[in-house]
Parts: sequence; structure tokens; C-alpha cells
Amino acid sequence: MKNRLSKVRLGILGGGQLARMMALKSHEMGIKPYVLSAHPQDPAAQITPYFIQGRIDLKKDLKKFLNKVDLAVFENEFLDPVLLYEASIASNTPVHPKPKVMHLLQDRLNQKKLLKKYKIPTAKFIEIHSHKQIHTLPNFFPKGAVLKKRHQGYDGYGTLIVKNIKEDKKIKEFLNKKPQVIVEEYIPFKKELAIILVRNRKKQIIELPLVETHQEKACCVWVKGPCRHQKKDPLVKKLKNMMNEIHYEGVMAFELFETKQGSLLVNEIAPRVHNSGHYSLDALSEDQFSLHIKAVLNMELVSPVKNSGGFAMLNLLGEKNPSQWLPPAGATLHWYGKTENRPGRKMGHINNLDSTPNKALTTLLDFKKSSFRT
Ligand SMILES: Nc1ncnc2c1ncn2[C@@H]1O[C@H](COP(=O)(O)OP(=O)(O)O)[C@@H](O)[C@H]1O
Ligand SMILES: [Mg+2]
Repeated sequence: MKNRLSKVRLGILGGGQLARMMALKSHEMGIKPYVLSAHPQDPAAQITPYFIQGRIDLKKDLKKFLNKVDLAVFENEFLDPVLLYEASIASNTPVHPKPKVMHLLQDRLNQKKLLKKYKIPTAKFIEIHSHKQIHTLPNFFPKGAVLKKRHQGYDGYGTLIVKNIKEDKKIKEFLNKKPQVIVEEYIPFKKELAIILVRNRKKQIIELPLVETHQEKACCVWVKGPCRHQKKDPLVKKLKNMMNEIHYEGVMAFELFETKQGSLLVNEIAPRVHNSGHYSLDALSEDQFSLHIKAVLNMELVSPVKNSGGFAMLNLLGEKNPSQWLPPAGATLHWYGKTENRPGRKMGHINNLDSTPNKALTTLLDFKKSSFRT
């Protein structure tokens, strides 16, 4: 495979920052990244000569694009699975992870059922079909509940946290707008954690370090690691089993809760590269984007080594162009090149390495306080 890599045409569906980082890494690996995206100024479109303008939700565009590449990956699991499957068959071009697996994981209800099937700990949940069920919620979830849209939720859009379950006005409003939801028990977690696993068709699975993630208004602000947890290994064993059973290919990211009692619960699964893994660009000998590409090409996967005792990542949310400031000495800036800057929008991130996770993070938080408007 090594000698033939330069001939590989990797299709990337979507033009955002995840697509951009996959495309940048493909260039470094000698692979040609073809990007299908709506506008030439999109983050991934800017950095490859193999940009193809088109819509990922149009069969004609998808088919045309897939005809030009050897295989394809996606940066976002909310594509139409039937369109993708049909375009993949018609063009004889595989898409990884498979559209069937993407379909399974793009639905929060199916995710929860999958976790249950493989005995992976997760918060208690029920399906909601009608308003009539609202009055039953206090029985199921006396300590509060979280309503989640089954499809297309991200960064808290599509999530409603209701600590006082008897206040059903908000719940009714949410259900009026988003009828397909699951309701989960509210977890007063101690911390949010995340872990990335990578699997190829040879059934090799590697594990990246466990990290702590910090969300504000349900959007990730920072990540630090590596973390330890005594329940990590038994959890990872179950996650690997699940990945084998569904014949998964590529990076799979897991968002976790550490409960006050010290258990680990899986909150959410992403069948793709993930914000919680951006630290790997600088902190590991191999990053999540290269590993995703290697996994879908069924190349050998080798566990990356850490480049320092600790690392941290700070998301640049709604920040202005970096030409007006400089990252702290020793830290690395990753700017996504977005043309529009909206409050809270992910514009880039900074990675920092130090002897401990806390030292690496403190430098970034001090920098944020002194340099940014937020
Ligand atoms: N069951 C829960 N209990 C407490 N907080 C939750 C629960 N589910 C989600 N949250 C909070 O809301 C955030 C967003 O929810 P999540 O399920 O990750 O959806 P998404 O990231 O797709 O918007 C989580 O990172 C967490 O901070
Ligand atoms: Mg989440």
C-alpha cells in the first residue's frame, strides 16, 4: 500500500473544519484529498486543488463526486443514508464508515439501544411518542431529565435539560418543535470525559488517551489529558466488542460522564473524527485524522505515543482573525479559515503541551483571559 498511496484519491464529504484537517493530513500522507462542498471558500475547499463544488444532499452531485474518487469518508454523520448508499453502489465507490452504520448511529435512540445491547453503561432513557407521556416523566426521572432530539443534534442544539421535571411548559414547547425525541435521566456528573478508538477491517483496534472535556452551554471549550480512571479498561473492552460486532471502520469517538459515584457512562457516540481528539495533532505521534484515513484504507494501526506528560486544547469560539494576536510560546494554533465569524462559532483551536495536563491547560486559560473578548 505504501508505494501506491500517492495514487489514492480520498473523497471527503463536506467542507468544514473536520474535513479540512482530514484533507491536510491526506496531503501530508501523499494521498489526494477530493473535497465535495457547497462553496470554494469553505475551510476544506480552500486547501485542496481537488475541490469539487456541489451538494452532499443531492444524489447527482454525490454520484459525480464518488465517481472521481477511490473511497470516501464523511465529516458529519447526518447525511441522507439512502442517498449515500445508492450513490456509493452506483459509483462502485465505498464510503467508510458504511452508510448503514452511519444510519444506525445518526439516531440517538438507536445509539442508546446499541449501548444497551452490548451492556455498555449509559443513562436510563425512554422514547417519547406524544404529549400524553409528559405526565409520566416525573415517575421515570424524579431528579430531572434531558430531552434530546433523535436526529441532527450537536453542540447542545437539540438538547433540553430540565432539572425540575414538574415544570412541563418547557417540555411541551420542545416537543412541539421536535417531536422525535428521547428522554434521559439527568446525570449530575462530576466530570465529562471522552475517548477515541480506531478500528480497521483487519480488526485491529487502537485506543487514544482518555481526556477530560469541559462544556459551556453544551459546547466544548477545552480538553485536557491524559486522564486515568479505574473503570476505563473494562469500558473500553465493551466498546471494542461493540465496534467488532458492527464491523466498524475508522475513528469512533465516545463522550462520557464520570458520575459522583465514580462510574463511567457513555453519553454519546460520534462515528467520525471529533473535537475531543484535536489535541492529538500535537500531543501524539499520530493524530486522529491520519488514523481515520489509515483505518478506512485498512492500513496497519499502531498505538501512538504521547509527546509530553500532559496536553490541553482550547477551542477558539467566535474569536477574530489570529493576525491580531499570537498563541502562547510553545503552543500551536490551528485556524480553520472560516470567512464568517459568529458568536460561539468554532473558528480554530490551540494545542499546548506541558509536563502535566493542568499546566498545559492553565497556560491556555491564562492566555484566553488576557487576549480574548470572551
Ligand atoms: N443526561 C444528562 N445529564 C446531564 N447533562 C447532560 C445529559 N446529557 C447531556 N448533558 C449535557 O449536555 C451536553 C450536550 O449533550 P449531548 O448529548 O452531548 O448532545 P450534543 O453534544 O450532540 O449537543 C453534554 O455535553 C452535557 O454537558
Ligand atoms: Mg455531545
